[in-house]
Amino acid sequence: MTQPQAKYLKDYQAPLFQITHLDLDISLAGENSVIQATSSIERVGEHQQPLKLDGEDINLKSVKINGVESAYTEKNGQLIIDTEEQTFELEIVSVVDPESNTSLEGLYMSDGAYCTQCEAEGFRRITYFLDRPDVLAIYTVRIEANKTAFPFLLSNGNLVESGDLEGGLHYVKWHDPFPKPAYLFALVAGDFDLLEDEYITRSDRAVKLQVFVDKGNLHKAHHAIASLKKSMQWDETRFNLEYDLDIYMIVAVDFFNMGAMENKGLNVFNTKYVLADKASATDDDYHGIESVVGHEYFHNWTGNRVTCRDWFQLSLKEGLTVFRDQEFSSDVGSRAVNRIHAIKVMKNQQFAEDSGPMAHPIRPESVIEMNNFYTVTVYNKGAEVIRMMHTLLGEDKFQAGMALYFNRHDGQAVTCDDFVAAMEDASQVDLGQFRLWYSQAGTPQVTATESYDDSTNSYCLTLSQETPDTPGQTDKLPQHIPFDIELIDSEGNSLVNQVLDFKQQTQNFVFENIKSRPVASLLQDFSAPVKLEFDYSIEQLLHLMRFANSEVAKWEASVSLFSQSIWQCVDNLQNGKAMHIDSRLVDGFKGVLLSESLNEALMAEILTLTSASSLIEQTESVDLDSLAIARQFAVNEIAQGCEDELLAKVRQLQSTDSADARALKNTCLSLLLKVDDSYRYIAEQQFGTADNMTDTLGALTALNSDCSSERTALMTAYESRWVETPLAMDKWFSLHATFANEGCIEQLEKLLQHEGFSMSNPNRVRSLIGVFAAANTFEFHRKDAKGYDFLTKAIIKLNKVNPQVAARIITPLIQFKKFDLERQALMRKSLESILAIDELSKDLYEKVTKALS
Ligand code: TRP
Ligand code: ZN
Repeated sequence: MTQPQAKYLKDYQAPLFQITHLDLDISLAGENSVIQATSSIERVGEHQQPLKLDGEDINLKSVKINGVESAYTEKNGQLIIDTEEQTFELEIVSVVDPESNTSLEGLYMSDGAYCTQCEAEGFRRITYFLDRPDVLAIYTVRIEANKTAFPFLLSNGNLVESGDLEGGLHYVKWHDPFPKPAYLFALVAGDFDLLEDEYITRSDRAVKLQVFVDKGNLHKAHHAIASLKKSMQWDETRFNLEYDLDIYMIVAVDFFNMGAMENKGLNVFNTKYVLADKASATDDDYHGIESVVGHEYFHNWTGNRVTCRDWFQLSLKEGLTVFRDQEFSSDVGSRAVNRIHAIKVMKNQQFAEDSGPMAHPIRPESVIEMNNFYTVTVYNKGAEVIRMMHTLLGEDKFQAGMALYFNRHDGQAVTCDDFVAAMEDASQVDLGQFRLWYSQAGTPQVTATESYDDSTNSYCLTLSQETPDTPGQTDKLPQHIPFDIELIDSEGNSLVNQVLDFKQQTQNFVFENIKSRPVASLLQDFSAPVKLEFDYSIEQLLHLMRFANSEVAKWEASVSLFSQSIWQCVDNLQNGKAMHIDSRLVDGFKGVLLSESLNEALMAEILTLTSASSLIEQTESVDLDSLAIARQFAVNEIAQGCEDELLAKVRQLQSTDSADARALKNTCLSLLLKVDDSYRYIAEQQFGTADNMTDTLGALTALNSDCSSERTALMTAYESRWVETPLAMDKWFSLHATFANEGCIEQLEKLLQHEGFSMSNPNRVRSLIGVFAAANTFEFHRKDAKGYDFLTKAIIKLNKVNPQVAARIITPLIQFKKFDLERQALMRKSLESILAIDELSKDLYEKVTKALS
């Protein structure tokens, strides 16, 4: 077998042919679905090269050029046609089988409906084509299918024609006036409930809004459509961007590899990011829907109107669009809480990726399987890079840069460099050194030291930076780091609030006129995606928790306070000493609970004590067994020390209507149940009286830390209540997956046979297997290898069924560098057994070989 080959950014070549128009005529008929694709093709420049089209699993029937049968060869996923024509019409007829397509790429079926997923390279599973984002065509799509089973036939753009045909068939024709790359094509055919609405744009155009959901779910589509209207409004006011078609459709499907897809005028969504009602969806689900609906909508300009030249530029659209959806959530909700969530993703997922075998710059330089690069680095670090530009330029110049970007590039396929050039030209801010953020992988390590001279009243902050080697990349240069700081005096007054331009390897920043030794709040709001090392004392951290101007900085201080005490306990354990938690720390958390000024959502964030996985990210190598004991000890000490205050909060907020208060209440409840089993009745009561999923799940989560008869009874009650509702069952699977007690894995093995579970549905796989590997740190890393074996078996099954999902959930198994040698050996053994299977997908091949090399 030939091994999969990497493609390189440096090898990019402009296309030899352009396809200006594509007419698709699609007849949906199960395993014999026929695709007739008629392209208008132009040779680009003077050359004699043959036309080479991409295709995968296509059953080719005929090829015609200008109406005449043409010779061709089919090899290695390519259709090669030798022709002398300069401009010509190419007609390809082929047959595909959507029913047996479990990869959920190309044309497939979800619960009886046909749908497509073409990003990144899925269009080539529908027909032979120039399946690359720098080939932009105008699409006209005719779909034909049985009318009773598939009353709705949808594609991109505007509906131009429809009618009935013989034999119970009907057809619909769509035309999309905007040229687009093949990855933005979509088709959906099925029977749905339809929720309709309208949005009047600021230039007074009426846009029809439609959300299609599985029958019986109409009442769960209201939040999605409200979120869509909010997004459209926000993009007009904050970014000056208006929608461009007369119709915007969203279809919710249960079988979907990711969150959602921004196909022009016809978004396809995972049901998880559409369906919600109070009883079945949590406050977090509501928030997730708003942000994903926003994300896909914002792609209409950042991604669709201006798209990527090649897939190495993915962050051009994704980093920017994540930044935009984060700003949307922050403008319509709590800025501090949204920032904290984004920081958590960076610190415990992106930092892990950056220090593991898949480390890559936000603009990767080589790729084997593109699906493997829809990563927290490209998306979330990409968004941080955009955010840094926003910090360096300020809102006005940043928006001037956006305007110039659209002015220059509307309708084009461009590069990350084009984006930075527009920002630079519009603002006159030098982004020369800043461009390194696009090419260097790895997390810069920033070390800070300070000195204060009371004879001169000057404070000096010394910063130095170092970016570690990553696979294939050494000797990195210093980066341009916007470093946000606040200096606070002993009374809590703010003395300095400033963003430092930190550009050299080591740099001193001196502040005069500082009357007494200040406390420094460093890297405020995570102003750059770097790791900061600074030796804070407990007193300084408590001071920041009380007085920092930024709410995010208060939270950061609490994380440092908790983390420091954990590492102290680990140290004690390793040296045979008794563990000890400083009483000032307990008092600090008590102070949070008693505070009258902190808002409830922020309190909840502070009291959600740092997870094991994010603690692991703070170290180079971890003694996992000591960490497990130390973390449990520290959590229990804090809970016990705050017992009265926790109980008071839970009682006070028992029947609250606010999402913030619910978050706080449920966080407190979880802590309270660690103090004493006798508090379990509160969770039982809450479960019994809850009229919303947040409280239902809050009760179950609080009970989930131990084995108890109460837990067993409520889990059974939940199962019978929700067994018919897949998204609610996902929460139940995830509770089992995060159960950190003996017997967890045996239970998960049984659940693989549960009537509600299915290996072919990615939501089910993620909630049971993915969540276990990613979030149940101590059970996954069991020394008897049961956790690794469980994941490995599932991955081997998924390799055939759905390679994309298999390669996604393998992440915790390839990030083994920080663990002890014994565990590393077990993890390698698992990876070797995966590498040995027949017909290993490109997706897994790339990740496993990188991990083992
Ligand atoms: N472009 C999509 C987004 O960010 C995500 C996406 C990429 C995707 N590849 C996919 C979605 C495959 C579904 C399947 O919104
Ligand atoms: Zn996106």
